Amino acid sequence: MSANVVVIGSLNMDLVTRAPRLPLGGETLIGHSFATVPGGKGANQAVAAARLGAAVAMVGCVGNDAYGAQLRDALLAERIDCRAVSTVEGSSGVALIVVDDNSQNAIVIVAGANGALTSAVVDRFDDVLQAADVVICQLEVPDATVGHALKRARALGKTVILNPAPAGRALPPDWYAAIDYLIPNESEAATLSGLPVDSLESAERAASHLIGLGAGKVLITLGAQGLLFASGTGFEHFPAPKVKAVDTTAAGDTFVGGFAAALARGESEAQAIRYGQVAAALSVTRAGAQPSIPTRSEVKAFKSS
Ligand code: RIB
Repeated sequence: MSANVVVIGSLNMDLVTRAPRLPLGGETLIGHSFATVPGGKGANQAVAAARLGAAVAMVGCVGNDAYGAQLRDALLAERIDCRAVSTVEGSSGVALIVVDDNSQNAIVIVAGANGALTSAVVDRFDDVLQAADVVICQLEVPDATVGHALKRARALGKTVILNPAPAGRALPPDWYAAIDYLIPNESEAATLSGLPVDSLESAERAASHLIGLGAGKVLITLGAQGLLFASGTGFEHFPAPKVKAVDTTAAGDTFVGGFAAALARGESEAQAIRYGQVAAALSVTRAGAQPSIPTRSEVKAFKSS
């Protein structure tokens, strides 16, 4: 099976607690509920692209524990090609997530098997990359692998998307020339650019800086404030659809997957952005990472409502 969207990245089991508020240091809180939910930025983006119409393949690693099998099954249930999802000795990636009554979250991830996704593993599945139109990476697997994958995808002439999440540091300068679409959120854009991002104007300055470093186009997601698109020749603001948020986990992933799926079927950048925004808006109305991601028909129904 050949896929038009290939995601190279993480698979995590999300251990999700709902609590009245996020705990302070040293504090014990009584939570409302607990659930284990398939997640991981890479896997979420793969599920989003698949539910939103793309043929998808995932390149990643899971552990040989029970979570590993569940994470793979969750992707297979979406008809995602998992030939390049390797099972390695040890624990799968996990994310400890607390969601409060205001739908804010706090997340700690432990890489586990995601740390075994090396450049050599990516090279082993070069045929999967060769078959793609769009390649997506994030930052929950080793940096060396991400840099290698971006450059290989660029050399193959693919459309390359980097969602630089989570961003704890500036990106290696030599990555930028390989990126067609850099999609950070506000805080990631600030980390990458070294500039504050707290308004549309400051987002424009950060986006210009990132384009100056060599990124093709920059899309800064601004939560309820929508999205800033910077093409290098100008800016466009895309307001967000208004919804009542229940849980914002994986909203950014849903945007990235929806944007990629729409681009892969030939929609314009503006159409793909609006499509990803509607999908992300729907995802925040539901709890959990992968369970919250809408289908193509749900997005269609929302757009025509
Ligand atoms: O973007 C949301 C994801 O971040 C969660 O599913 C969790 O696994 C972390 O990777």
